[in-house]
Amino acid sequence: MSLPPAASPSSSSSLAEPLRFAYWVPNVSGGLVTSKIEQRTDWGYDYNRELAVLAENNGFDYALSQVRYMASYGAEYQHESTSFSLALLLATERLKVIAAVHPGLWHPGVLAKLGATADQLSHGRFAVNVVSGWFKDEFTALGEPWLEHDERYRRSEEFIRALRAVWTEDHAELAGDFYRIRDFSLKPKPLNTPERPHPEIFQGGNSTAARAMAGRVSDWYFSNGKDFDGVTEQIRDVRASADAAGRRVRFGLNGFLIARDTEAEAREVLREIVAKADTEAVHGFGAAVRQAGRSAADGKGMWQDSSFEDLVQYNDGFRTGLIGTPEQIAERIVAYKRRGVDLLLLGFLHYLEEVEYFGRRVLPLVRELEAELPEAELTEAGAAVKPVALRA
Ligand SMILES: Cc1cc2nc3c(=O)[nH]c(=O)nc-3n(C[C@H](O)[C@H](O)[C@H](O)COP(=O)(O)O)c2cc1C
Repeated sequence: MSLPPAASPSSSSSLAEPLRFAYWVPNVSGGLVTSKIEQRTDWGYDYNRELAVLAENNGFDYALSQVRYMASYGAEYQHESTSFSLALLLATERLKVIAAVHPGLWHPGVLAKLGATADQLSHGRFAVNVVSGWFKDEFTALGEPWLEHDERYRRSEEFIRALRAVWTEDHAELAGDFYRIRDFSLKPKPLNTPERPHPEIFQGGNSTAARAMAGRVSDWYFSNGKDFDGVTEQIRDVRASADAAGRRVRFGLNGFLIARDTEAEAREVLREIVAKADTEAVHGFGAAVRQAGRSAADGKGMWQDSSFEDLVQYNDGFRTGLIGTPEQIAERIVAYKRRGVDLLLLGFLHYLEEVEYFGRRVLPLVRELEAELPEAELTEAGAAVKPVALRA
């Protein structure tokens, strides 16, 4: 297989490290697309336990749970993210499970306590995804104030600082605008492993405020689905913010993957998903996400220019273009890696079947292409970033 041309020079990744893979845990009903197409994916625990074991045996490093308290984009039924994540951790041996949490609905000290227990029970495999929120109705239903966009990020940043302090320090103190911690010593703390000093902290959000916050406090930044230019533009900003803080932030990219033996088959699946979209739910979701980046002063952020088709996969997953044969997809994945992507977060239509197909047909090709990456590029990227371990 031939390698695609290297694009943007700006990369925060070390090309020498293997690309990592995560999957979206289908812990809400209706699957990952808001469509009436048949989806052989189940949101229940039995299905998810089988999926988690299958995923760790098919090259997946991480699973990401969703936090949702009430219906939107379909998703009428939902399992709670932290408890479901812990159940998946206990059912697996190597998979790291990332629990999505909303600052504003958790006290960081209480979440730190939960995280320490989950990390102890799973021998260091717990992680969190701090999501600042877009769904105002959920906060209203729970009787919590809905903050203006950039204030949500100010709160999330304080939340992450508190979490890290409680996880790593004795007598933690924080006199914040949103949270207070007084002389608090967590016992036991989460594991401090050679890979990372505390559970990894991911964040969702692509607005200007999200990028700035990532550079200052997050370990990982998650992007919604994007083409090459969309990724490069974000990596540049996040990296500038991280450089200013003397930190390294890793970059994860969402993509909905449709791999079939022929490109025509894969494209037909996409066409059918969109043709059978649940129009009412997609429009409702489109209206709700105006509370996200579009409500910020500069109007930049997730879903700012999403079309109807984009929103059918509610994290713009079709835009990443991981649709085609195993060879086409593997080449595109490695092209993203060369632009600085460290992790791909994947969603599928029929999870059990497609995770197995991915592990058997796509991943080996990705690893082959990674091994072919030119030495000069590896050295250049390696010199530009700090070493392999995930420690800040
Ligand atoms: C990978 C990823 C996962 C997310 N998961 C959730 C989630 O589980 N629940 C939720 O309410 N929001 C989730 N979000 C959305 C964020 O809460 C946030 O509203 C969104 O990223 C918009 O941010 P922005 O305004 O900074 O662009 C997620 C975002 C990303 C990128």
